[in-house]
Amino acid sequence: MKTQLTSFPPEQVEADAIALIFFEEKDELLRSVAALDADASGLIGDLYEKKEFGGKALEMAWIHRPQGFLAQRLLLVGGGKSAEFSSAKMRQVAGSALRFAEKKGVRHLAIAPAGDLDPGDQIQLLAEGAILADYETDVYKTEERGDSKIEQLTILAGREHNSRLERGKAIAEAQNFTRELVNEPGNLLTPTVLAARAIQLSYDTDLEVEILRKSHLEELKMGALLGVAQGSVEPPVMIVVRYQPKRRPRSDEHLGFVGKAVTFDTGGISIKPSQGMEKMKYDMAGGAAMLGAMKALAELKPAIPVTAIIPSVENMPGAAAQRPGDVVTSMSGKTIEVLNTDAEGRLILADALTYAQQQGCTHLVDAATLTGSIVVALGHERVGVFSNDESWQERFLAASETAGEKMWPMPLDEEYKEQLKSPIADLPNIGTRWGGSITAAMFLKQFADPAAWIHLDIAAMAWIEKDKPYLPEGPSGVPVRTLIQVAMDS
Ligand code: BES
Ligand code: MN
Ligand code: ZN
Repeated sequence: MKTQLTSFPPEQVEADAIALIFFEEKDELLRSVAALDADASGLIGDLYEKKEFGGKALEMAWIHRPQGFLAQRLLLVGGGKSAEFSSAKMRQVAGSALRFAEKKGVRHLAIAPAGDLDPGDQIQLLAEGAILADYETDVYKTEERGDSKIEQLTILAGREHNSRLERGKAIAEAQNFTRELVNEPGNLLTPTVLAARAIQLSYDTDLEVEILRKSHLEELKMGALLGVAQGSVEPPVMIVVRYQPKRRPRSDEHLGFVGKAVTFDTGGISIKPSQGMEKMKYDMAGGAAMLGAMKALAELKPAIPVTAIIPSVENMPGAAAQRPGDVVTSMSGKTIEVLNTDAEGRLILADALTYAQQQGCTHLVDAATLTGSIVVALGHERVGVFSNDESWQERFLAASETAGEKMWPMPLDEEYKEQLKSPIADLPNIGTRWGGSITAAMFLKQFADPAAWIHLDIAAMAWIEKDKPYLPEGPSGVPVRTLIQVAMDS
């Protein structure tokens, strides 16, 4: 889908359809209609009177052959109550309009900003919402889809907003890139294939990519990661992506983006039930998010160095698989008793967090589909945030607000560490049944200290369980936008 800006008024835009946003309040409606040159007010008023359209959030109505417009159709899109309109709503409105128009054969859609948000923000948000909504999951269907695709999106705004359009595009395309990776099945996206996708990224941008292969990981003594990988015929990799700003950095901070990339998680010898196991192809969503964020940063060029570190393995119960009770030595030197081979994410992250610090990262963010417990704790509405550093967490949560990705801080009291006692090794890889997402985070903390660190448990949020008007069921691409934002803010 191509995107452009136009400074023509709605009446003079040559598109198949023009999406106009209207709010619920009658006076808001009259104000918006009065702003139109052409006389669409009668038509729009009729729809309101007949209760066919009332401006409710994401409500839609068509007006055909509107008088005085070059476009054949107007699409009225509800913005909800004007006082409740927000950045999140703006993305949703753009996304729903795009998905709705697409089903009705529109190929060129124009959309006009509305509401009181900052004009530049509005352009970025409309672009983000539309491009995110344009993503499709049915990549391996061989039959042509019946409906047409939207080829052109035109946003009604002047040239001065071009940089905001470009920013929205870079962000949403990076998020879609992450979603594409997450959507891939385990047979087609192995650790080796993920590494190849990262190398491709280094050809397309000035990011530097290094792939640490198995022998290298052995030299680095990454026993925790290697233990997980040994049950699969697919060799493990550690993907390292480096962004270096051309300008002199503002501080001596160095961001480390660490992402869990288990390309398929069977659970290993502690095997998972077959019901729903197919979903475990998305156990690489954390790593995919880091790659997506780096892709955007290569374009947006923040002032801070950022290194992404993505440990990637397949967790299989092969003949050489690690057993419950095995003891492994991590890169940090700490020994771990592997009581449950299905708690593999924290094992590969332990070595990645150690490596990130060895690489000079001062501020770490890890993202991982780490625990089923976080789904119990927060449902499918918010990402769980854990941290060992209050001010870093504050900065990060502020970025998540701006980026419109819902998160919530979780506790990490020292008391939770009581659960992590092993009779034979420094620590076990699981705690009790209670507070499972917290003990998982507490495990990671043992490897993240002393750097400033944030852990995101995205198990409940990386996959959208049900179609929404503005997004299809499937990978969400969370937390790509927040990662980009925090780097741009730094
Ligand atoms: N990848 C899973 C967590 C997960 C669950 C992700 C559901 C997405 C949806 C992780 O590796 C895992 O298996 N965690 C176990 C840990 C347990 C053995 C302590 C879990 O949460 O059940
Ligand atoms: Mn697991
Ligand atoms: Zn897993």
